[in-house]
Amino acid sequence: MIGNTIINLETVDSTNLYLNKLLKTRKNIDEGTVVITKQQVAGRGQLNNIWESNPGENLLISYIVFPFFLKADHQFILSKATALGVFDFLSGYLEKVKIKWPNDIYVNDKKICGILIENSLRGASISNSIIGIGININQSNFSKKIPNPTSLKLETQRTFDLQKTLTALCEKLDNRYEQIKSAEYEDVNNLYINHLYRYNIFSNYRDKSGIFSAKITGIDESGRLCLCDSSNNFRKYAFKEVEFI
Ligand code: BTN
Repeated sequence: MIGNTIINLETVDSTNLYLNKLLKTRKNIDEGTVVITKQQVAGRGQLNNIWESNPGENLLISYIVFPFFLKADHQFILSKATALGVFDFLSGYLEKVKIKWPNDIYVNDKKICGILIENSLRGASISNSIIGIGININQSNFSKKIPNPTSLKLETQRTFDLQKTLTALCEKLDNRYEQIKSAEYEDVNNLYINHLYRYNIFSNYRDKSGIFSAKITGIDESGRLCLCDSSNNFRKYAFKEVEFI
């Protein structure tokens, strides 16, 4: 179960990197082992970005799962289940939580959480997956470099006990992981779409040819974003190929 074993660190380069190294040096790591730290000195985000967080104010965690039941070409269901777990957790405190494709979590057009999933493949299956999650909990001042951040504290004017939020988060993540383990894909797919940021709403996007207006019509099995532009052309994009404006 996610969170049954917890490794608590004061400071580390990145919790994802820590688990990666642990996997190489230790044979038996329990599935669901969580690494949590107060501070990362080299926190990593998607697209080679860095993840910034004031020490001791936020949840910075990674955990390991062994989703051998998933084929590599179906790995996006793990992103969906993880995003939904965080969605469930945050919805316990906030309204208007949204999942921004592929797996950011937004509140009122602002980013409250980032997720970095690193899968290792063995043949056609996923042998292990390191899931890193950064959720802004008690931070109220952010560097100007971060585009549009928010936190639970900024949204609710309350301060949260990090230990309690960790317990609540692990439970929600575990429920969603169990769902995909038992192949309950329909519920996960439907909920992901129901809570998707900008779903079916015309907005601006940028691809290699420039800016265009389109609406999200869905996500395909391999996790590509399906858009329909204002001239009714359907387009599909992998992560990195398109940007939300
Ligand atoms: C993103 O939105 O770009 C993803 C950010 C993921 C940040 C978390 S914080 C805990 C874990 N360790 C890392 O180095 N990154 C993830």
